[in-house]
Amino acid sequence: MGQPAYARKDRDWWRSAVIYQVYVRSFADGDGDGTGDLAGVRARLPYLAELGVDALWFSPWYLSPMKDGGYDVADYRAIDPVFGTLAEAEKLIAEARELGIRTIVDIVPNHVSDQHPWFRAALAAGPGSPERELFHFRPGRGAHGELPPTDWPSQFVGSGEPVWTRLADGDWYLHLFTPEQPDLNWAHPAVRQEHEDILRFWFERGVAGVRIDSAALLAKDPDLPDLSGHPEPHPFVDRDELHGIYRAWRRVADAYDGVFVGEVWLPDAERFARYLRPDELHTAFNFSFLSCPWDAARLRAAVDATLAQHAPVGAPATWVLCNHDVTRTVTRYGRADTGFDFATRAFGTPTDLALGTRRARAAALLSLALPGAVYLYQGEELGLPEAEIPVDRIQDPMYFRSHGVDPGRDGCRVPLPWAADMPYAGFGSQQEPWLPQPAHWASYAVDRQRNDPDSMLTLYRQAIAARPLFGVCPLTWLPTPEGVLAFTRAEGVTCIVNLAPTPAEFPRHSQLLLSSGLLDDEGRLPQDTAAWLRS
Ligand code: NOJ
Repeated sequence: MGQPAYARKDRDWWRSAVIYQVYVRSFADGDGDGTGDLAGVRARLPYLAELGVDALWFSPWYLSPMKDGGYDVADYRAIDPVFGTLAEAEKLIAEARELGIRTIVDIVPNHVSDQHPWFRAALAAGPGSPERELFHFRPGRGAHGELPPTDWPSQFVGSGEPVWTRLADGDWYLHLFTPEQPDLNWAHPAVRQEHEDILRFWFERGVAGVRIDSAALLAKDPDLPDLSGHPEPHPFVDRDELHGIYRAWRRVADAYDGVFVGEVWLPDAERFARYLRPDELHTAFNFSFLSCPWDAARLRAAVDATLAQHAPVGAPATWVLCNHDVTRTVTRYGRADTGFDFATRAFGTPTDLALGTRRARAAALLSLALPGAVYLYQGEELGLPEAEIPVDRIQDPMYFRSHGVDPGRDGCRVPLPWAADMPYAGFGSQQEPWLPQPAHWASYAVDRQRNDPDSMLTLYRQAIAARPLFGVCPLTWLPTPEGVLAFTRAEGVTCIVNLAPTPAEFPRHSQLLLSSGLLDDEGRLPQDTAAWLRS
């Protein structure tokens, strides 16, 4: 007999979900202290329900010294007091579920905070101790151990900073990110056991899924070879041992119908797809789509490559335009280089925001029409641009570790504007928020956009509501002139995007469902505009 269709559909929610990333610090401030919190999110759940999202992914909300915005976790089972309490998180998960919204938590298995009890114990116990085996402690090289154990580069791309720090007792420890984020030793059974327990802890609290931070970095070559000799396999990226780890995680998740989304940055499509085999992760972020320049041929190639890559393993694609690490979409699409690359970020890049916004609106209709799950990052639905943060207010370690070359990621983490005429654009703070909002921030406020038929918020709300019309079927490309993308799905619903300077004719259709901008006088689709049509 099997399951009734509706139950099957519900269990497969993640295959076509719209998932909204909440960066709690900057979402809404419930207690007025300048930092967003769980009370703020709870108060805004009706907004998220009205937007129509299926799930919320919360960037880490655990106890943390916030040396890397919470990706330095001191206790995975406690909520940081600046955000609230565990009891509040439980309430939030339950209240969201009542509104039909599932919760995804963010687990950071590659490293912990240097304030985590395990690392503190390892420091106290000294060289050669069993406590140090939970991490990667090593003596240095050179006559006096004064050289780091390997030549590995920092994962904060381009920072040129070391990934080893030497202690007064002579040992060095590994940290692929900041020194306050020591890497765990995944060859140690206690590390594996602890993480499986953490997964259970959160699934028991009703979460529906887990986002896995730095998912391809956990396993390290125990011999710690240098990178300069180009060892194969790579000493710390995408090692085969990872698949055993994720198979064990999958067994834990399956007991709760929980799902995973991996943060897997890998250029090799076949290696990427291995993580999505049926007994491993359910999904992974599609960074090739996110990084793709605003160019019809390249976007089509990225879509085709994504679908081809996922098909053999039966996993749904994900479509992502931005997150808390990358330059906001309207800014990126308004620059000469519309792609994304950590290595080329710089201060003062000229930006045409009107152009970027027009393209971002079209990109929203494109990504919400594609088969798979879609991730939105808070503020994307408001069309927020990347902010230039005054250097004396920057907090992101990426800026400091690049010695001021990389502006860092704070520009996409600015507290959201909710009400134009309120202090701090209605973020909720009684005092200056943790990051300053630019002067024009109020013009993006939710209360300005809510009833404006032409706003970005209205476009997102309408598109999310209409998206089920596309069904769950694969896409078929339609013949189009150069620079135009058009595809049909399900019962004849078509998405067309014009990136060419010449206005595009619509294919035959019975109804214009939605468009990202005005049509021209002859009813054609202008450049950088997208539409959804019913045939
Ligand atoms: C990826 C996260 O998205 C980023 O914000 C963080 O800095 C690194 N992983 C390290 O945890």
